[in-house]
Amino acid sequence: MPLRDCRIIELPKVCDQRGNLTFVEGGNHVPFEIRRVYYLYDVPGGAERGAHAHRNLSQFIVAMSGSFDVVLNDGFESKRFHLNRSYFGLYVCPLMWRYLDNFSSGAVCMVLASEHYDEADYIRDYDTFSATVGAG
Ligand code: TYD
Repeated sequence: MPLRDCRIIELPKVCDQRGNLTFVEGGNHVPFEIRRVYYLYDVPGGAERGAHAHRNLSQFIVAMSGSFDVVLNDGFESKRFHLNRSYFGLYVCPLMWRYLDNFSSGAVCMVLASEHYDEADYIRDYDTFSATVGAG
């Protein structure tokens, strides 16, 4: 899939003097049904996460607290997204090489995913990814 299919999606925000509320509905605010949620936290300064692609998995990445960057690469071009608000998220379509870096202290990265965890869905070797998307 091309990089342009990946995009920042603004989520609903219910503002209230008691605090704001944001919600995400699978198939509505994100273009897939949500089958798994995971989060990265206590990420040490300078650490890099990801560095792999998924064959079938769609994901939606939100900076619940703090900030970080997500770099996406479809085999032909790459783009860096800075996430720093809990009412914006990045939709990542399948077959997208990604890594995350530039984590601020206290950052929490929540990922909504279209499938349960399956190591067989990962492509962890860049040359294999490149050949899979026809860029090798
Ligand atoms: P990985 O997806 O490689 O981490 P990241 O892309 O954030 O750098 O996963 C790291 C480890 O955690 C790996 O051994 C698999 C395991 N894991 C699960 O067991 N379940 C999950 O839902 C995820 C995302 C990872």
